Amino acid sequence: MQYSTETRHLHQEIIDQLSEPQASISPKYFYDALGSRLFELITQLPEYYPTRTEHAVMVEHARAIATAIGQGGTLIDLGAGNCEKAAALFDSLQPSQYVALDISSDFLHKAVAGLRKKFPTIDMSAVGIDLSTQFDLPPSVHTQSRTFFYPGSSIGNFDPPDAIALLAHIRHLCRNSGGLLIGVDLVKDHATLEAAYNDELGVTGAFNLNLLNHVNTLLGSDFHPREWRHRARYASAQSRIEMYLEASRDLTVSWPGGERDFKTGERIHTESSYKYRLGDFETLLKRAGFTRTQSWTDPRQWFGVFYANA
Ligand code: TRP
Repeated sequence: MQYSTETRHLHQEIIDQLSEPQASISPKYFYDALGSRLFELITQLPEYYPTRTEHAVMVEHARAIATAIGQGGTLIDLGAGNCEKAAALFDSLQPSQYVALDISSDFLHKAVAGLRKKFPTIDMSAVGIDLSTQFDLPPSVHTQSRTFFYPGSSIGNFDPPDAIALLAHIRHLCRNSGGLLIGVDLVKDHATLEAAYNDELGVTGAFNLNLLNHVNTLLGSDFHPREWRHRARYASAQSRIEMYLEASRDLTVSWPGGERDFKTGERIHTESSYKYRLGDFETLLKRAGFTRTQSWTDPRQWFGVFYANA
């Protein structure tokens, strides 16, 4: 097979990370077509409170949020997925332009095509993008009144220094006007946090394990998901959920040009999900250069929604 330089580069990155003493696979590979669908199912699980709690906060405070943002600007959705969350804001924000960005570009294009029919007056576009790079926006995106929308506590999937770098980049793209509407999962009791990543039906396990199928497709490796176990635990010192795949026996994984042995119980780190206190996240926004912040939360203070002015 002939691969482009960029594809070879990505393959090498996956191989390098698998070969480290503490192996890891980048969470950006969760979202192939099946992974995107499994994640949609996760958001409907009884244990996975973030999506529905965030939605409740946005609905409860829709007017205050719209007042903070203003109407008629450009809404730029970072990690849009099925675009449902942004669509729920269209009524109160009345954007003139909607730009949906996501790493899963096929899934995204389908979602945006559906949305165009429902909201024919909004100028819409969809772009496949990797937020862990210094991404740029297409020239068609208006420079005035940009509101970036980053829901779902995806910011929690970055280590704090990378989170600050991404927030600072977003602020730069705001061009001194506009701002960022962002959802952040908050620190809470450990049982609730851990249950959200260890649901009883095993959907989260399937989502985590599907990463191995996706890597097999990309790399031509021979992972067998049934030989691996999903693990998620809350590390309170770092305020983060840590997700792993754990080898259930001694095994060897091979790919064209290489291999790696894993001992029983050895783990591949797949994602971290940081949880913040309201005040700590406000500090992070300020450190990224945002000037004024407002926040809203639910009565149990499980999830925070922030609007930060550029
Ligand atoms: N961004 C989601 C989160 O941190 C991703 C996620 C949910 C996830 N469940 C998972 C990632 C299980 C890996 C394994 O909440």
